Amino acid sequence: MAISIKTEHEIELMRQSGQLLAKVHRELAKELKEGMTTKDIDRIGEELIRSYGGIPNFLNYNGYPASICVSVNDEVVHGIPSEKRFLQNGDIVSLDAGLIYKGYHSDAARTHGIGEISDTAKNLIDVTRQSFFEGIKNAKPGNHLVDIARGIQTCAEKAGFSVVRDLCGHGIGKSLHEDPEIPNFVTRRRGTRLQKGMTLAIEPMINEGSYDVWWLEDDWTVVTIDGKLAAHYENTIVITENGCEILTLLPEEQKELAQIGWL
Ligand code: MF3
Ligand code: CO
Repeated sequence: MAISIKTEHEIELMRQSGQLLAKVHRELAKELKEGMTTKDIDRIGEELIRSYGGIPNFLNYNGYPASICVSVNDEVVHGIPSEKRFLQNGDIVSLDAGLIYKGYHSDAARTHGIGEISDTAKNLIDVTRQSFFEGIKNAKPGNHLVDIARGIQTCAEKAGFSVVRDLCGHGIGKSLHEDPEIPNFVTRRRGTRLQKGMTLAIEPMINEGSYDVWWLEDDWTVVTIDGKLAAHYENTIVITENGCEILTLLPEEQKELAQIGWL
């Protein structure tokens, strides 16, 4: 499939979709507390998505049984919400959410700590987030996908962490997953040349230890092979004239990031 270039009108709809998803994440983060189940998170997340007029796009996607992917500690991505999994003090939890609004998909992930978390966990969450911003510094017309990957990988490895190889980001728009596939690590191939109007989900998955992962019996949950922690951070972006715009962060969140020099 060819990579779709969105019109100004489509980008406006993607922006609306992304801003609703940003609100879902902001509200969902406030609900997190020790003792709740991962299924509670899914329930609240789905309600938030629907309350804003969105449709959960993960629900039933290739048979995925929930609206929010909830991945705890050594779970990298695609954890399945469960009534039996209770959040505990010291856990880190990655929330991956997406929605469809007026026909356009958005996709974003955040990792949060529950209660008092270790310094390593804190650092892993921060570095994963920072690696996204280091990556998108290179997201501009004329550059290639590998330039984004280099920013991400350099940041993660400088901190002593590793970049998951088995999963990638992706194009996004009228479908959740569109071409191109977007590795978070440097490949020999430089990848697609970036062009204004491309909409991309950039999603570094960063491990505390080895980058190797495996899949649980449910065929969804991806976990680190060594049982160490993993973090995930994702936003939907659009390539603009001179750089990119992040569609799934609220203006006030972007202002804060600009203040610390990440944007
Ligand atoms: N952000 C995740 C991804 O791009 C969304 C997974 S959707 C699921 O892979 F439905 F498959 F969980
Ligand atoms: Co994604």
